[in-house]
Amino acid sequence: MMKIFASRTSTPLFKFNLRSFTKLAQESEAAAVRSENDEEFLPQMPPFAYTPPPYDGPSAAEILEKRQRHLSPCMSYFYKNPLYLVDGKMQYLFDESGRRYLDAFGGIATVSCGHCHPEVVEAIFNQTKRLQHTTALYLNRASAEFADALASKSPGDLNVVFFTNSGTEANELALMIARLYTGFHDIISLRNGYHGNAAATMSATGQRSFKYNVVQTGIHHALNPEPYRGIFGSDGPKYAEDVEEIITYGTCGHIAGFIAEAIQGVGGIYELAPGYLPAVYSSVRKAGGICIADEVQSGFARTGSHFWGFEAQGVVPDIITMAKGIGNGLPLGAVVTTSEIAKVLTSHGYLNTFGGNPVSTAGGLAVLKVIENEKLQQNALTIGTYLKNQLLALKEKHEIIGDVRGRGFLLGMELVTDPELKTPATLETLHVMEQMKDMGVLVGKGGLNGNIFRISPPLCFTREDADFLVATMDYIMSKM
Ligand SMILES: Cc1ncc(COP(=O)(O)O)c(C=O)c1O
Repeated sequence: MMKIFASRTSTPLFKFNLRSFTKLAQESEAAAVRSENDEEFLPQMPPFAYTPPPYDGPSAAEILEKRQRHLSPCMSYFYKNPLYLVDGKMQYLFDESGRRYLDAFGGIATVSCGHCHPEVVEAIFNQTKRLQHTTALYLNRASAEFADALASKSPGDLNVVFFTNSGTEANELALMIARLYTGFHDIISLRNGYHGNAAATMSATGQRSFKYNVVQTGIHHALNPEPYRGIFGSDGPKYAEDVEEIITYGTCGHIAGFIAEAIQGVGGIYELAPGYLPAVYSSVRKAGGICIADEVQSGFARTGSHFWGFEAQGVVPDIITMAKGIGNGLPLGAVVTTSEIAKVLTSHGYLNTFGGNPVSTAGGLAVLKVIENEKLQQNALTIGTYLKNQLLALKEKHEIIGDVRGRGFLLGMELVTDPELKTPATLETLHVMEQMKDMGVLVGKGGLNGNIFRISPPLCFTREDADFLVATMDYIMSKM
């Protein structure tokens, strides 16, 4: 066991027994087990009334062997022994042995309503039985109704929808529309942002880990306005001056647009400093550009306080791009803009074979209804705030926790080996993550140095789930 950090106090917030992690990993579930003196307990996963059907397929080792032989070597995996998950139900996942895990990552902030939510599954199934695919050249009820519903969730004049199959496609389209509409080429994006992996989106992405050395033109990366490490702290308007300067010194004075996430997801859950977007949107519009909000992670009620992440800054973009949570796991993305801007795509053909296909859009419509009917935005606000406060309490106790941030169910926890220097605690993050998995909790990890936990569960996560996650972290950190 690593002995790296002293806890600020020596007693865990919760009491547990002292069994080894190796032993824990062999348990079918991290249930409470009495220790010899009957006083201390392991964190207990909340009960859940669902047992997946028995699994009778190939073993995890066989799947891994095939993956290593035939799937691209670029694909990495979490954990020393990669997890093989075969069933999902709401906020829980099950491996091939039937062991249950609390999913606090949500398939990278993608599972919004819950794994295999029955109403979403039913909508997908019913549509698949009747008609799976034709083409957008014919009429399609699901895509028309879903576009109508999406337009009603979008502010201002944003009421025209282009469907895509992913976030990358949505952002590629948005960047092209910005260039066509304005007649200019330069785009400003943020350092540490992530927007996709195709030509324009990889250019707009601001992290070396996701960029290959291929031609990337017309992109300028502005200072990341993030309060924890950023040079101007929480002063949003001060960071916005950098965008103004890029326009003045790095372009002809006119630009095509600006793209940013309201909370950087892949980059490590950095929320833009308050007051940043209003100032930047004003500079961008003065320079003839249009403002694109990448809501792939922060949209669809995940931040709890608002349906869209940008709303927290009181702005209305010209284009919203979305994916992930829109489909609860379906390959679905969208670009929403004004009818005036949308017209730029009428001079030539623009074809996307699967964009707006009946199955994905029927599923998307069901997702939107579930978010509303089950008040998942309210749940993200209430439970997400509760969880954040619990994590902040943990920060007071464990020196290794440098920062806790984000909102709703888009939360980050940054581990550092030195609280003053903010030295990334990369190895320790891996250690805690591995132990959490052994105890039945799955979280994500991100940031350039891999020292930031990403907590982005399905929006049906409960208070008991939050307690279990925090108790698990506390237990592990108390032993480091
Ligand atoms: C903010 C953001 N934009 C765009 C993308 C790209 O989406 P996709 O992986 O569906 O292409 C991602 C993916 O993680 C993302 O987080």
